[in-house]
Order: sequence, then C-alpha cells, then structure tokens
Amino acid sequence: MATDEKRSLIIVSNRLPLSVKRVDNHYESSVSSGGLVTSLSGLTKSTQFQWFGWPGMEVKDNTDREEVSKSLSKHNAVPIFLDSGLAHEHYNGFSSMTLCIPGRWHSLAHKTTDRILWPILHYQSGVTFDDGPWQAYKRVNELFADQVADAAGNGTLIWVHDYHLMLLPELLRTRLRNQGKACAIGFSLHTPFPAGDFWRNLPVRKHIIEGLLASDLIGFHTEEGARTEIPNQIQYKDRLICTGRFIIGIDPQKFTDTLQTSEVQARIAALEQRYKGVKVIVGVDRLDHIKGLTQKLKGFDTFLDDHPELQNKVVLIQVAVPSREDVKEYQDLETELSTLAGKINGKHATPEGTPLLYMHRSVPFTELTALYSIADACLLTSTRDGMNLVSFEYVACQENRHGVLVLSEFAGAASFMREGSIPFHPANKSEMSEALFEALNLSDAERTKKYMYLRDFIHEHTSARWGQTFIEKLSARTWDRAGASC
Ligand code: ADP
Ligand code: F6P
Repeated sequence: MATDEKRSLIIVSNRLPLSVKRVDNHYESSVSSGGLVTSLSGLTKSTQFQWFGWPGMEVKDNTDREEVSKSLSKHNAVPIFLDSGLAHEHYNGFSSMTLCIPGRWHSLAHKTTDRILWPILHYQSGVTFDDGPWQAYKRVNELFADQVADAAGNGTLIWVHDYHLMLLPELLRTRLRNQGKACAIGFSLHTPFPAGDFWRNLPVRKHIIEGLLASDLIGFHTEEGARTEIPNQIQYKDRLICTGRFIIGIDPQKFTDTLQTSEVQARIAALEQRYKGVKVIVGVDRLDHIKGLTQKLKGFDTFLDDHPELQNKVVLIQVAVPSREDVKEYQDLETELSTLAGKINGKHATPEGTPLLYMHRSVPFTELTALYSIADACLLTSTRDGMNLVSFEYVACQENRHGVLVLSEFAGAASFMREGSIPFHPANKSEMSEALFEALNLSDAERTKKYMYLRDFIHEHTSARWGQTFIEKLSARTWDRAGASC
C-alpha cells in the first residue's frame, strides 16, 4: 500500500453525536452534549469517517433497530445496541462516577463500590471495587469489538475514544488478527490520566493498561496526561506503542458564523439591554462534580461578600447542563446546587434583582453563543478536567468584547491558557473572589493583550487540526511498523 493512499477511518466512542429518544410511536434524535462530541463533530468538515457508538437508549425490536440505524446513517453514525441493564452497569456503574465525599463515605459506601473509573481518572476516589460492573464493562467492550472488527476492512484506521472503551484496542486487535485484517488502532483519552501512585488504586489497572497497549498510538490532551505512567514510546511484548500530547480544540468558525445570524444578533441586543450597567459573568458546565460547581457558587458568594459596592452591578449566569441523571450522586449534586443558589440569592438579592441565575437545563446553541458573547468574564472552576472546551468557546465568541477568562488551574486548558487567563485554585474562595475582581477591573489594554493570546491559541488548535494530526500520525504508524519508531 502506498503511503499517500487514503484509507477509510472508523471512529468509536461510547456516545454518538446524536442521542436517540422514543417519542410517541417513533424515534427522534438530538445532539449529544460534551466535549468529545463537540471536537469530533468539528472534524467532520475536513475528514470523512464512520462513527460507531451507543445510541443512548435500548432499542429491542429489530424493525425499530433498522429505523434507528437508517436515520443515524444519514449522519455517518452506526449504532451499537446494548440492553439497558448492561449499558447502565457499564456507563453508570463502572465508567462513570460516584464521589467518595469525606464524612459521607459510609452512607454512600454501598454505591461507591460499583463506580470507579471516572473518579480515579479525576483524582477523586478511594479504593472501591465490585465485580458486577467490571464484568459489564468488559462485556460492552467485547460487543463493541465484535461490531467494529466486522465493519473494518483491511487497512482501515480505527480511532477509539475515551475511558468507556479502554479495553477495546486489545479486543479489537485479537479479532482483526483472526480475520486477517491489518489495521492501525489509535486511542485518545479525553480525561486526565492520574499519577502512577493514584492510578494504583484501580484493582483492574493491569487489564486496562494491557487493553490500551494494543494500540499503535495513544493520545492525551496535556503533557501531564502524556507524561504520567506512560512515556512517549513504549516497547511492550513484541510491539512499539507511540504516545503523545494532541491538543484538542473546537471549530471557532462555527461560533463566529452563528454570532452573525440575525437571530443571535437580536438575542445579543436584548440581553445587552437587559444587563445594561451590569457586569455579566457566565459559566457553562455539565452538571458534574469535576466542574467544581459547588466551589463556584461558594466562591461567588465570597466575592459578593467582599464587594458590597457591586450590589445590583454584577450577575453570574450559570448554565448547568444535565448529565448522568440516573446516578444518585448527580441528583444529590443538583439538589445541593439549587439549595446553595437559593441561599446565595436569599442573602444578596435586592428588589432590583438577584445576582445569581442558576439554570439547570440544556440551552440551544444559539442561546449559548449569545450568552458567551455578552459576558464580561467566564468563570470555570474545574477541580480536574481533561481539557474544558467551554473555555475555547467563550474566547471564540469574544471577538468584540475581549472578555476575560477566569480559569481554574486544574482544567487541562489551563496548561496552555495561563498567560491569557486569570488562574486560581478552585477550592480557595478568596483567591477566586480576587481573580473575579481582577477580571472585571482589567484595563482595556490588558484585556486585549490577554484576549489576543487566547484567540491565537484557539485558532491555531482547532478540532480539525487535532484530528488530522492524530490521524496522520496513526496512519504513519502502520507504514513503518517494520522500522518501528515513533
Ligand atoms: P465535558 O466534555 O466534560 O462536558 P467540555 O467543556 O470540554 O466538558 O465540553 C462541554 C461541551 O458541551 C461544550 O462544547 C459545550 O458547548 C457543549 N454543550 C453545552 N451545552 C450544551 C447543550 N445544551 N447541548 C449540547 N452541547 C452542549
Ligand atoms: O471530558 C471527558 C468526557 O468523557 C468527554 O469526552 C465527554 O464529552 C464528557 O466527558 C461527558 O461524558 P459522557 O457523555 O460519557 O457522560
């Protein structure tokens, strides 16, 4: 095969870009939320691929499966159907999260045993483990491997995504070998990868690492992820595995184009009128413990305490996008946040208005861009985060205002955006308060200087560039396997 020959590409992730729902007698799909979908969708403009993943619900009946497959195929998406019990154990059980909150450990202990990967990857969990969800995790990875291996041709590039599918490279490798297909397998992790000593908490870590090490190329978002535990090149058994940092991004043009539409322009004008004379701070996060939303609200409370002169002159608009709503700890977090929001407004509201707008819902893309655009600052408080693409999106929407990014030092993005943002520790309420005050009081020249730095960064590191760089490197890995170098 010549090196310039274009080969087909399969992308595999747990979540597809569209999630399917049963409405009355038919199926409807809506855009899935999350950074993975945003970045991979940004790649569709420049690169052709088939996207395999779970459609978001159980579809039992064969005729229904055909209907769903047909409608997803219009978006080059291929569903991998799972029974709801299995999907639940795999996603909510083993993959996703439960926090071991000090003091609440014992009351939650029966739950904490069965959800492990997400908290460990985000430095949040103690050592707990249960075999049932682990078996479900393995089973789902096997079902994905069966379907993807059958669909791949000889030479197809296969790019696997995220923590839900860490066993997949090895399972795929075996099946492809049995079918006589030589395919390069890449894996990208969208979460942090913890330091070795913390990773040791995972009782099945050896299986997970072996699963990953069947890849030809493993990508992380930051140096921290790429460096810890795994160096840039690994010789394992008879194979060489390349690893590296690939900076993920967004499609900034999608945001600037949307901002130009008359619908969004009208919305911006209305919001600017509504908040005339008021400094607007925006926050957009999936409702997830790792986003530090409790810390954000408490830090904002401290900021309001510290600055009584800003009464009625500042507002935080916080969109908390519903996520993993079947998991009790996410429900508990929502209750905690809405209670906290009520308390903060109870304490600081005046007849003129409330300083905190807490919205627990998904907002349309047009509304999201309008909100980003009218905000003087964006406050992101992640306690750990793979990258945090909201920070990129805010910058993309600030061409006119040059608003300020107030960014937790624990967001992956902070390792690249420090110079252009105001960094702070999310657990330090005074530091957050000072960072916010600084952001709202920067001179025009300082704001513009910071903004230009961030603007250049997000335009240089787009989702298209991220994807193309990874795919090129993955493609090269197969050609030189004999010479074996990274
Ligand atoms: P994470 O991947 O942890 O959710 P990111 O900040 O990297 O965090 O990505 C969140 C993504 O979800 C952003 O691209 C954001 O625009 C997107 N998003 C936010 N609200 C919605 C929504 N209502 N529908 C779809 N996507 C949304
Ligand atoms: O940030 C890590 C990540 O896995 C993203 O890749 C994903 O978009 C987000 O978390 C939400 O994950 P999920 O949709 O699996 O709940």
